[in-house]
Amino acid sequence: MTRHYLMCRPDHFAVEYAINPWMHPEAGADREVAISQWETLRSAYQELGHRVSLIDPVEGLPDMVFAANGALVVGGRVYGARFTHPQRAAEGPAYLDWFVDNGYERAQEATFTNEGEGDFLTLDHLVLAGTGFRTDIFAHKEAQEFLGRPVVTLQLVDPRFYHLDTALFPLNGHNVAYFPGAFSPGSQEVLRALFPDAIIASEGDASVLGLNAVSDGTNVVINIEAADLQLELKRRGFEVIPVDLSELRKAGGGPKCCTLEIRG
Ligand code: ARG
Repeated sequence: MTRHYLMCRPDHFAVEYAINPWMHPEAGADREVAISQWETLRSAYQELGHRVSLIDPVEGLPDMVFAANGALVVGGRVYGARFTHPQRAAEGPAYLDWFVDNGYERAQEATFTNEGEGDFLTLDHLVLAGTGFRTDIFAHKEAQEFLGRPVVTLQLVDPRFYHLDTALFPLNGHNVAYFPGAFSPGSQEVLRALFPDAIIASEGDASVLGLNAVSDGTNVVINIEAADLQLELKRRGFEVIPVDLSELRKAGGGPKCCTLEIRG
């Protein structure tokens, strides 16, 4: 099925501050390399037949390339982001404005801190929601009420996996891949109960942000370094499209971070 993604070209990308353990401002990042890697990701989606919309990058917002954090869109309802860190605060209204300007009438500003699809991942009958580092658990309740979908809270415990989308991705509408070590014992139990047939990723594959992948149910766009995970995906019948986003990883992001799915 054709997907609709919103992306933001990394024209102002930089690693200027550190708000997660991946970011080292003293080491910096190469913007030109980031742009060309991002272009490869965009082309990959287009070659798969998906629709890609673009939001204008804003100067002074070096992390705006991570579109997943900009909102959560389910059934045409847009739940706006409210960022944890002041460095990214202006991205929330910028993304919400894009939706309003593009005719999404059911757009709601959030009362509670949440980083959009970074911490909310949508399956057919439920939304999985991370908390612990960025998104406030009250935002889970607010999103459930606004979207009319059950939202299941998952507790993140490892700072390297500060967003849910760094530790888990939906393979399709009813199954997921994840790294158990990123979750509290109780949340690991919840995941085992909900997804007995999940792909369990290794710490090695999680540590190259291999779980920050985008699946359309058939094709999985994934960081090239996540070798074992790619093998397992192929074994289960998925088409694997490896991409190199090493420059964006210096800010703590991968393919999924760069991709906001617009549903309905
Ligand atoms: N530097 C960004 C931050 O720490 C990276 C965001 C990655 N996005 C994501 N969806 N995991 O906020």
